[in-house]
Amino acid sequence: MKRQKQDYYYWEAKKKGYRSRAAFKLLQMNRAFKLIKQGSWVLDLGAAPGGWSQVAVDLGANVVAVDVNFMKPIEGVTFIQGDITKEETIEKIREVRDYYDTVICDASPKITGKWTIDHLLSVDLAKAAFNIAKQFLKQNGNFVVKIFQGEEIQRLFNEFKPHFRFKKFHSPKASRKRSAEVYFIGKGFKKI
Ligand SMILES: C[S@@+](CC[C@H](N)C(=O)[O-])C[C@H]1O[C@@H](n2cnc3c(N)ncnc32)[C@H](O)[C@@H]1O
Repeated sequence: MKRQKQDYYYWEAKKKGYRSRAAFKLLQMNRAFKLIKQGSWVLDLGAAPGGWSQVAVDLGANVVAVDVNFMKPIEGVTFIQGDITKEETIEKIREVRDYYDTVICDASPKITGKWTIDHLLSVDLAKAAFNIAKQFLKQNGNFVVKIFQGEEIQRLFNEFKPHFRFKKFHSPKASRKRSAEVYFIGKGFKKI
């Protein structure tokens, strides 16, 4: 709590009515990489409490948000409560819509504090997000997913990269300096 109170983005989020400081990470990445446009259909995985969904709505997108935990309603957002690693959740997403322009995933595992375990759990979530992105992204669509750094990151990059015209890892300014997280940015999805 003390760290939160000293944090610039924590107070900015309060001031601007965002539910999380993470909202600024998506704003910064969108400014740099143009991932979401007016009228885009966005699938937000690991969405609660809803900061990224709020940003996507503000950018003029239609949003479908998924989280294993409940998320308070946001106007313009269809919420699905479910685990992104489960087939039944994928079916629920399909019931809403078959194709999306952008899939974003900020899902985090429950942190154990052990670097390698947290890394591997986050790799599993990133793979689940990619499995969903492959099924739902339109040709040329965009994908953003959080990963905690570690030894599997290059293998994951190799798995993702043939599917995108543009691909890189990125650390937005709003990520905490000592954070292990990075975001994979993939643009120009190729159905292969
Ligand atoms: C860092 S928070 C996301 C913050 C969000 N981007 C925002 O701006 O408010 C990570 C979320 O991932 C969710 N999550 C973790 N594992 C999940 C899973 N297997 N399926 C769906 N959601 C998951 C957690 O419940 C948590 O709400």
